[in-house]
Order: sequence, then C-alpha cells, then structure tokens
Amino acid sequence: MKYNQDTRIISLNPKGDDRGKLIAIEENTECLPFSVKRVYYIYDTTPNVVRGKHAHRNLKQLLICTSGSCAIMCDDGTKKVEYTLNWPDKGLLIDGLIWREMKDFSKGSVLMVLASACYDESDYIRDYGVFMEELKK
Ligand code: TYD
Repeated sequence: MKYNQDTRIISLNPKGDDRGKLIAIEENTECLPFSVKRVYYIYDTTPNVVRGKHAHRNLKQLLICTSGSCAIMCDDGTKKVEYTLNWPDKGLLIDGLIWREMKDFSKGSVLMVLASACYDESDYIRDYGVFMEELKK
C-alpha cells in the first residue's frame, strides 16, 4: 500500500502548578510528529451532527478537544476504532489514509486540529467506495 495508516492517542504533558495547567506542543516531537502548516477548530457544533465522513490521502493531523468532549471514529478499511476525546491533555494522531467521522460533540466543545498541510481538496476522499478502492492500490 502506498499510503501511511496510523491512529493513536498521544498523551500531552501538562505543566501544572497552583495557578492551573498549561500544555505546550512543539512540532516534530513525540507529541506532534510532523510540521504544522495549518490550524483549525470546530465549535458551536449543531447537536447530533456527524462531521468529517472523509479520508485524506497524505495529511497528518493531531486532534485535541480543548474544551468538552467528542468522539472520533477511525476506519482503516479493515477495522473501526472509536476514540473519545474528553480532556485537553489527550491528542489523537491520524496519519494517512483513514476514514474518519467526528460526532457526539458536547455543548460548548471545541475540537482543535493541527494539520501537516494547507487545505487541499485534492487530498480528500469523500466517497467511502473510492476510499476502499484506494486502499487496494
Ligand atoms: P468540512 O470539510 O465540511 O469539515 P468537516 O470535515 O469537519 O466536516 O469543511 C467545512 C468547510 O470549511 C468547507 O467549505 C471547507 C472549509 N475548510 C477550509 O476552508 N479550510 C480548512 O482547513 C477546512 C478543514 C475546511
């Protein structure tokens, strides 16, 4: 297969003291194993909506639910794994050809995404059948 396929939870290390907590993330480290070209965040999400429903050919992303919670279903074509993001010290790395669906957003949740490339529609696969075909290449 010509694509990467990796999903995993990455623990982010909070620096806490009696004032509260702070998390710093630097690119090209164990916490963030790529260079960041783009940041976007999803908020004010309509209840019961499912977002995503696409795969990327080459994009690497680190997803962090900085406030509230949401669920991310990742499908590599053979198995589906559902991750719950419910704390700012937890990141979900999605690398390469993975079908993803984001859902169960709690009221007030903010899902921040650090991405390895600028927005590029040609990197998207928005049809599940095309995704399954692409996996065979
Ligand atoms: P969309 O891909 O539908 O979001 P999701 O995958 O979370 O369901 O994106 C919504 C809109 O925002 C769509 O018009 C494309 C645009 N967009 C950008 O302009 N830049 C970006 O980095 C992203 C992720 C989306």
